[in-house]
Amino acid sequence: MRHLMSPLDFTTQELDKLFDLAGDIERNPGKYAHACDGKILATCFYEPSTRTRLSFESAMTRLGGRVIGFSDANSSSAAKGESVSDTIRVISCYADICAMRHPKEGAPMVAAERSGIPVINAGDGGHQHPTQTLTDLLTIRSLKGSLGGFTIGLCGDLKFGRTVHSLIHALIRYDNIRYLFISPEELRVPDYITDMLRGRGIPFREVIRLEDVMPDLDLLYMTRVQKERFFNEEDYVRLKDFYILDAQKLARAKDDMLILHPLPRVNEISVEVDDDPRAAYFKQAQYGVYVRMALILTLLELA
Ligand code: NCD
Repeated sequence: MRHLMSPLDFTTQELDKLFDLAGDIERNPGKYAHACDGKILATCFYEPSTRTRLSFESAMTRLGGRVIGFSDANSSSAAKGESVSDTIRVISCYADICAMRHPKEGAPMVAAERSGIPVINAGDGGHQHPTQTLTDLLTIRSLKGSLGGFTIGLCGDLKFGRTVHSLIHALIRYDNIRYLFISPEELRVPDYITDMLRGRGIPFREVIRLEDVMPDLDLLYMTRVQKERFFNEEDYVRLKDFYILDAQKLARAKDDMLILHPLPRVNEISVEVDDDPRAAYFKQAQYGVYVRMALILTLLELA
């Protein structure tokens, strides 16, 4: 039985297969409409989410399966003190596969050890968010044509943003990628990531001003300042509007630069950018459903 805890759990060859399957699902949705008939997905969300939970639900429903679950720790037995290990043993009796989000780093991994069904990490604290990374990789592959040979700028909350940490881990296996980390000093990418890049001889630069590097970018990955992971409100208020991408800043970008964002957006991309052909973040959300469909089929060994 296979789980998904980190994007590195799949080899690049396996990822190619997964993305090919997602592409086939996009082109021929009817072919997969009953692929999961009779199967049940449990969504166990101990932390708020709209996109990830609903895109899992949409994915399973589009495959013909059904969904059970909870979207708030307070409405589950966790509120009574139940451990994730016990919860997953019980869920294993009710469902065929589980997507779990938890505010504690590593909680889905603890669950996977005790689980009788495949567990998908749907985000664990500030740590990893592998299905968002699969979404990001599929979006880049589909819209840029390949996973490599580009300059990517990751901008915003690089300290607490788990989607950023997951994406960097996944991208280091591809060739010829240059990284620009754009953040205020307080929200720099963690040392364990820059140490890993240095150890592998992968080039990166850290900058504060987005404007300065805009013309160099093939991809711009914007992120929200992660309010819920701040220790005090004052720091959040000071940093929350540090970056606001607008038409004026975009004027210096390449014509074919792609703008990605895992969403939800708060203030960091002005709504006027939504109509720019380079804005790909809503398309990205659509790719998220295809890739989760492909993932469910793969982990259930139905592909
Ligand atoms: C992200 C997350 O939950 O980490 N959202 C998502 O799943 N698309 C990003 C965020 O919350 O900022």
